Amino acid sequence: MKKGLFITFEGVDGCGKTTQLTKTKEFLESKGYDVVVTREPGAGEIGNKIREMLLHYNGNISDKCEMFLFLADRAQHIENLIKPSVDKGKVVLCDRHTDSTLAYQGFARGQDIELLNKLNKIAVNGIIPDLTLLYDLDTDIAQERVGLNKDRMESVNIEFHKKVRNGYLSLQKKYPERIKLINANNSIEKVFEQTKDIVLQLIQEKRGI
Ligand code: TMP
Repeated sequence: MKKGLFITFEGVDGCGKTTQLTKTKEFLESKGYDVVVTREPGAGEIGNKIREMLLHYNGNISDKCEMFLFLADRAQHIENLIKPSVDKGKVVLCDRHTDSTLAYQGFARGQDIELLNKLNKIAVNGIIPDLTLLYDLDTDIAQERVGLNKDRMESVNIEFHKKVRNGYLSLQKKYPERIKLINANNSIEKVFEQTKDIVLQLIQEKRGI
């Protein structure tokens, strides 16, 4: 039986989700929870090799190759880290997961959403996040936060990132029970107050405090 919790952090590049994930980790650890912090792409040795290709390869990567690489990373990650950690009762905080593939490869790159749903389903093997926190931010502000040192995905034009943002917002409308929307255009502390409230509510519902 599943004992732990699986929480994913999503949003456009530069939305501040990684900062919020780190603060959530510190908060949950201070409450005595056993927390695992991880990310996609790029957990473990194979994950890091896939991440290097996806974010730093200089040549052309076809859209389908990109799609399969993100999914390959996910399949390995679920089997080697996420599922075993959740099975052991840990709280897994994951920086990006299935919704990134739907927003980036689906809504923004134009891959078929139904196909991506099927491939995600194969990759995750029944493990679905208990909660997804979506940090929403205007893409112009987000791109400014990213700065000039951009990786392969961050370097795609602003129109692409607008589609990613709108894709995320449609996903939130489709799955409002799982995906909680957070306005990321606030101070780190204010955004964390919202994050903390939502996470605590989940813990209360799932485990009691
Ligand atoms: P990040 O770790 O800095 O968020 O960078 C990961 C990049 O990869 C980010 O631009 C989003 C992108 N990405 C996808 O396009 N599809 C995916 O499935 C995942 C997990 C990430």
